[in-house]
Amino acid sequence: MTQTLIEPDAQSVEAAIADLAGYVDSAQDGWTRQVFSDPYRASREFVAKRMHDAGLEVTHDAGGNIVGRLPGRASAAGLTLKSIMTGSHTDTVRGGGRFDGIVGVLGAIEAVEALRRAGVALNRDLYVVDFLGEEPNEFGISCVGSRSIAGILLPEHLDMTGASGQSMGNTLTAVGLDPQAALKNAWAPGSLHAYIELHIEQGPLLEQSGHEIGVVTAIAGIDRLMAKFIGRSDHAGATPMDARLDALTAAAAAVLTIEREGCGAPVHGVATTGRIESYPGSFNVVPSEARLWAELRSTDSEWLSGAKGRLAQEIGLEADRRGVSHMIEWLTDQDAVPTAPAIRDVIATSADRLGHTWAPVPSGAGHDAAHMVHLGPMGMIFVPSTGGRSHCAEEFTPTADIVRGIRVLAETLSELDRAETVAA
Ligand code: GLV
Ligand code: MN
Ligand code: MN
Repeated sequence: MTQTLIEPDAQSVEAAIADLAGYVDSAQDGWTRQVFSDPYRASREFVAKRMHDAGLEVTHDAGGNIVGRLPGRASAAGLTLKSIMTGSHTDTVRGGGRFDGIVGVLGAIEAVEALRRAGVALNRDLYVVDFLGEEPNEFGISCVGSRSIAGILLPEHLDMTGASGQSMGNTLTAVGLDPQAALKNAWAPGSLHAYIELHIEQGPLLEQSGHEIGVVTAIAGIDRLMAKFIGRSDHAGATPMDARLDALTAAAAAVLTIEREGCGAPVHGVATTGRIESYPGSFNVVPSEARLWAELRSTDSEWLSGAKGRLAQEIGLEADRRGVSHMIEWLTDQDAVPTAPAIRDVIATSADRLGHTWAPVPSGAGHDAAHMVHLGPMGMIFVPSTGGRSHCAEEFTPTADIVRGIRVLAETLSELDRAETVAA
């Protein structure tokens, strides 16, 4: 049990979050700092400096991650012990907020400072990572940096193209990375003693139940799809309603089918259509083609695979009824990932010891942690999101809540450091 008080500096955390929020794309709404953008690139110098000032040895790895290492007593003595890693991301969605991911990076750096101030020296090396591009990018790939470290960034990801016609591989090159090196950046499976990530909840559960800390039970699996509908262009004034092959109304029916599927999930499940396009896109032409991009998420793998099948069938039946042909392409899938029970226990015990109330919660959001599970046992700590809002400009978590999360993170790191092994 830790005897010394490990106390984060609330003012410093709040100032760091405010400073990072200064690096935004002023042409966009909210606090936009998308991966590969100029403000993102500039902001990472700020993050690297902050890591350096906290006493971390900072490197930029081949996967575009900023990696800060705090050498432990064992490696200083020439001994080998598995390392601990913590971190998150500092990119945002378009129109996003100031806390998603950011709390996990700046909070981890503050945890290092707090451990140092408390005179707690870890035995194991501790890595603090700002992972490259966690949010889905224009190529449809999320978690570029954590995939690279986990060894699941694949050649086909590099070939994916965005709206500009540019491939992700070329974009990596344009920002000074070697795409082939990014594919070979993997740490050995099982090489981590533990991975732990602090994050805002991004949903309403903690606020509604009045708990201060969320002990994450599992990260939802995600299935993403693109559906394309092909009908026929006709004059919108002269073609009777019963003589049309309208691709957009078939797509609209699919949007409602997708929503119904999410509403019918028995335990935990959501379904969202995030984007829709129609062609030729004129008032006076019946749309000949429509495309939609949607996703299903759940911590319940059985529901997720059942929902995939039901959606394909129902979308197809409705399109057929309208005489519109269709095609569904499943773009990415990510299985639901449970957190390690042993890490959940350490987080809960740490919260109890600090007098912070906690509750087990699922994560509907995706996280770098879901990939780090390839390297070792993984756990996540949530702090509440005001109004359950996230991925929007209003995203907010009070500093006092963030500080509680950092306290629990620091305490958990220190406990895990002492454990001989952590069961996955
Ligand atoms: C990332 O925030 C995601 O859950 O999509
Ligand atoms: Mn996010
Ligand atoms: Mn996030």
